[in-house]
Amino acid sequence: MSLVCVADFEAHAQELLSKSSWDFIEGEADEGITHKENITAFKRIRLRPRYLRDVSEVDTRTTIQGQEISAPVCISPTALHSMVWPDGERSTARAAHEANVCYITSTYASCTLEDIVAAAPRGFRWFQLYVQSDWELNRQLIRRVEALGFKALVITVDVPIIGKRRWNIRNQLNLEAKVKLTDLRSPEERNSTQSSPTSLPSASFCWNDLSLLQSMTQLPIILKGILTKEDAELAVKHNVQGILVSNHGGRQLDEVPASIDALTEVVAAVKGKVEVYMDGGVRTGNDVLKALALGAKCVFIGRPILWGLAYKGEHGVKEVLNILKTELHRSMTLSGCRSVTEISPDLIQFPRL
Ligand code: FNR
Ligand code: LAC
Repeated sequence: MSLVCVADFEAHAQELLSKSSWDFIEGEADEGITHKENITAFKRIRLRPRYLRDVSEVDTRTTIQGQEISAPVCISPTALHSMVWPDGERSTARAAHEANVCYITSTYASCTLEDIVAAAPRGFRWFQLYVQSDWELNRQLIRRVEALGFKALVITVDVPIIGKRRWNIRNQLNLEAKVKLTDLRSPEERNSTQSSPTSLPSASFCWNDLSLLQSMTQLPIILKGILTKEDAELAVKHNVQGILVSNHGGRQLDEVPASIDALTEVVAAVKGKVEVYMDGGVRTGNDVLKALALGAKCVFIGRPILWGLAYKGEHGVKEVLNILKTELHRSMTLSGCRSVTEISPDLIQFPRL
């Protein structure tokens, strides 16, 4: 039976993957309240379509940080792709390039940065950095990321420590030991027998350190994990170029708002001064439409990409992206939006359910 929606890929991946791999991907923190809310919050939103507009031509293209993408549906950073597909992030990079969307590569990628870039040399990529307590490591990594053509640095701010993932504990999956900074070693070092350092994000990284990071690069800086208007205002004050509203897919602090519910507060706080993106619970074209109507420039997806990877590698990822892009195209057509600029808050029924 063909897989016709993202939920089909989810069901197929659960069949296909080992329990510990499936549990790692699901990976909700504590009681999984936010993990579930990310999905159900979208379903509480109702749309207000407009008709009798010529929708014979609908264009999903947009730009993020000035670069054109085929649709506002891009790839969130997720660790360890080789856990679900041998070619790992190389397949993800090829699929993202073919789909002409942005792929945020994780610090904890299972392939080296060089291999990922070689897989899709002209791919549009941002690099997600977990800031290390050793600033020389940060400097080295930023130098390599710039030299390899990554177009922005995405700083994840919601992991001073890793959330309590109950199933990882039950499965005795020690994530802290698994996530190796393969990318910190130069190609020459990688040939040495020494394994790369495992290095978790610095819990001491704070707003005062942002200027030090900004002094190390000319790349745009996007903060990933912002959920409040106060932090959004601080982000603008600290001259970042973008905010990715996220609760890490419900894998970090449980019982925070669903990303789609936090989006409105952040969009209102930044007053258009920086681009705002979101991730968390995006599973259909309608979800994408709702996020854009509530002010996101683009959405990013995490788990669905891994489900596609598990299904058929690069082809599975392409199918997931294509499903979301065509569903968005259909939702725009059915709601009277001929381009993403016509997607506005008027599309949303207030008060929400
Ligand atoms: C993640 N996420 C994540 N985020 C990040 O900044 N760096 C990382 O290395 C990872 N790793 C990771 C692994 C796995 C298996 C998952 C599921 C998630 C969080 C990710 O970027 C994103 O915020 C969420 O996955 C978005 O929610 P959905 O799309 O998975 O519902
Ligand atoms: C996770 C870390 C790696 O969510 O970001 O698994």
